This record gives sequence, structure tokens and C-alpha cells, in this order.
Amino acid sequence: MKTSTINQILSGPISNQEIVIQGWVRFFRNDQFVIVNDGSTIKTIQLVLNASDYETEFLNKINVGAAVRAKGELVESSGRGQACELKVTSFEILGESNPDEFPIQPKKHSLEFLREKSHLRVRTNTFAAIFRIRHAMTFAVHQFFNDREFFNIHTPIITASDCEGAGEMFRVSTFEPNKAPLNEEGNIDWEKDFFGKEASLTVSGQLNGELAAMALGKIYTFGPTFRAENSNTSRHLAEFWMIEPEVAFHDLKDNIDLAEEFMKYCVQYALDKCKDDLDFLDNRLADEEKLLPQNKRQEMTLIEKLKFITENNFARVTYTEAFDILKNSKPNKKGKFVYPVKDWGIDLQSEHEKFLVEKHFKKPVVVTDYPAEIKAFYMKLNEDGKTVAAMDVLVPGIGEIIGGSQREEDLEKLKSAIAKFDIPEEDIWWYLETRQFGTAIHSGFGLGFERLLLFVTGMGNIRDVIPFPRAPKLADF
Ligand code: 4AD
Ligand code: MG
Repeated sequence: MKTSTINQILSGPISNQEIVIQGWVRFFRNDQFVIVNDGSTIKTIQLVLNASDYETEFLNKINVGAAVRAKGELVESSGRGQACELKVTSFEILGESNPDEFPIQPKKHSLEFLREKSHLRVRTNTFAAIFRIRHAMTFAVHQFFNDREFFNIHTPIITASDCEGAGEMFRVSTFEPNKAPLNEEGNIDWEKDFFGKEASLTVSGQLNGELAAMALGKIYTFGPTFRAENSNTSRHLAEFWMIEPEVAFHDLKDNIDLAEEFMKYCVQYALDKCKDDLDFLDNRLADEEKLLPQNKRQEMTLIEKLKFITENNFARVTYTEAFDILKNSKPNKKGKFVYPVKDWGIDLQSEHEKFLVEKHFKKPVVVTDYPAEIKAFYMKLNEDGKTVAAMDVLVPGIGEIIGGSQREEDLEKLKSAIAKFDIPEEDIWWYLETRQFGTAIHSGFGLGFERLLLFVTGMGNIRDVIPFPRAPKLADF
């Protein structure tokens, strides 16, 4: 007999038919009611046993966390809060769970505790909800681009180029750490390594994405990216997923429009398709908020915050305008910023981004035209000769969620940029050739998938929106 998922059962009519359910026990009470969840939805179903059919020894094995299979008739429930229940005719315990040892008990666990139990934390409502939403957002990303005639490109994970030029890459080598061959100068002889050159895990698929955009027109990548930056923050991972569209003939404005439309689409998709899970996370957040003093509480609930994004336009300012706002701001004048805003050209720190988004504009902000020095080599130099056609999208609670730019399409200007950044031409000759043959203006951006998930789920730590986080000193599970 075919098994039904709880999601199917609860979204269909109550048929009084015989069905089979498989899942894990959430509660067992009065030797009769087994509450089961199977992961298909946040909701549970109640199985009603006829206690006299079973030995006490058997009933004692129905513990929280046990895997079970039940056959029975789906009937209307007289209990409160549930439309139907399963009147069980046969019941099996597929996998027992020792209640004294199973760490996930039906009570509130701290997120820190659950991070140490990442192999089991998906069994909590919170994490199951987050990972179902993660799936839905993956789907939304592909839907959005497919509907708009973008092609998905798989860019390499192993690369010999450093797209962002930050030198924060994980090396890929088959050399034994202490036995790497040396060349005549006494340095490691990478020519003898697997790829015949130094290779790393990619920090971005963009450079390859650009090559594809110069033929397919509109492309996007959606893959894992790796950064060996030693930032132990709630917004950084060493392994994260990034979505990078790249569009031929798009200028910076087209790029910002696409980013705003894309963000809004993803958030609307979550509101439309993940209602139960979002309601759960909304309530969870509201409970957490109650523990905070009045002045620390959020002004909006999670759902209100998401609707606010879909219903309002993002503010758009240049770096120079943002710099002036920050320089003249109260916290700057009162010396409240850890990084004081004094001289034009400084990089914006997360305290500055927070101020712009949460205090000044009170909505998402797109900052454009940053100083060339603080951005990557590939960005298009503006006519002023000192700023580039860059864009960062900043959102409340997170700060930077998207980074992108119009690309430098002029071969000579690109060559002088890579010289300034000390990138040898022979390393990216293939990238330069796109500017030699049929060059055209083009633009793109990267959205950090986990940052999007932080925003949509309202979670506070990026390690809680990826199943098995990788961060400094963290590669367990
Ligand atoms: O701003 P970034 O470094 O831009 C790029 O990599 C460009 N190549 C993108 C492009 O134009 N195609 O990174 C893009 C986004 C950031 O805005 C942030 O959301 C996310 O990637 N991100 C991280 N997310 C988690 N952990 C990290 N360590 C991240 N670093 C960047
Ligand atoms: Mg960035």
C-alpha cells in the first residue's frame, strides 16, 4: 500500500480510506495518542491506538524520536486543533529511540545547543521549517530566471583565478604538506602539482559567467563558493551558496532594477508558498522578542517585514551621498561609530550600513558608485576616474545581501585596472579576450543565498540557515 505524506493528507479531503503513514514520534500520551511528524510539513498528525491491542512492553518503546509506520483509517477528529486523525489498525516501530539519550526533547532548546547537534537539529520544528524554506527559495531562484529567459550555467568550483582579488582562497592540491617538490629557487614547484599551477576553490563564478553571457545573453550561476576569510561573524561562512546573474547589454541601472525585482520575487514566493513555516518562525520570533526589553524589540513582525520589502521601492544613493549622510549623522558626530566617518574613500562598515538602512532610510538601500580602490578590478570605471559602477544592496538586520556592478568592457581600461591590482595578464588572458572579440557593456551581481535566507526566516545567525555550516574551526558533521 502506498504511503501518504502528512502534507498530502492534511491538504486533501477526509476520505475515511485506509492509508499508511511513516514518520517520527513527537509525543505519546495516555498510552493511546501518538503525535507524528514526517517532515513533509510543519504539521503533525495524531495516531489513535487501541491500547488494549498492545503489550505494555511495546507501548514503552513508543518514545520521542522513534521511527514508526502506521496503517489505519483517516477519520474526523473530535480533538481540538486538528481536523482529522488516524484510527490505527496496525502499528510498527521501525527504529527505536532511547528517551534518556535522544537530545531533541519536546521542549525549547537553545540554537547554540542545537548547532552542536547539527546531525539531529533538522528534527526540530525550527530547523525543518528553515530547510523547507531553503528548498522553496532554491526553486524560486530557478523559476525567476527561467521565466525571464536566463540560462543556468555551471561554473567551475576549482579555479586558478581569484575573482574578488582578496586572496582569501582555499588551496586545492594533491601535494603532501611536507613533501611538496621544490623548484630551483627553493619554492614549491606548482607545475608538478595536479593542475600544473596553483589552484583553489572558487570565491565566485562571475568571471566564467561573464564568458557565457557574452554569447547566451542572459545567464545565472547558482553554486557553492568558498572564502577563507577569518571572519567569525553571524553573517559569514567559509562555504556559502551564491546566485550570480550576468546580462549582456545591461548597464548599472538595469542591474539594480533586476536585483530589486529578484529580491522582491523571492520574498513574495516565500510568502505565497511557505505560509505554515513562516507563521511558525514568526511566532517563534515573537516569543523571543517578548524576552527583550521594550526598546530592543523589532518594530515589525517577520511577515510584516517581508511584506514591507515586496511593497516598497528600495532607496538608491551613491557612495558619495551615503558618505555625506554618515559623516553628518548623529552617531558619527557623537563618536558612536567604532569606525569614524572622516575621509571620502573609506569602506563602509557594517555599523554604517546598519545606520543607513535601519535609522536613516528605514528600508532596503542600494549604494552605487563606490571608490575604485575599495572594489574589485573588473568594475567599470566611471567618467570621474575615481569611482566605479558598483552596487551593493543593503537590507535591515543584515546589511549587504547583494554585491554587483557594471563590468569594464573596454580592453585598455581593463588592462590598466588589472595592472593596478597586480594581476598578471597571462593569468586571465581568456577573460581579456572577451573584450577583444565583440565586447559589449554587461552587468551582474551576486546574491548570498544564506543572507537571503537569514532575511526570509528572520534567523539571527547564518550558521542556522545552512544544514551543515563551514566556518573557522568548524567542519563537523
Ligand atoms: O560582494 P561579493 O564578494 O561579490 C562577488 O563575489 C561578485 N563576484 C558578485 C558578482 O558581481 N557576480 O559577494 C556577493 C554576495 C555578498 O553580497 C553576500 O551576500 C555574499 O555574497 N557573501 C557571503 N555570504 C556568506 N558568507 C560569506 N563569507 C560571504 N561573502 C559574500
Ligand atoms: Mg561585496
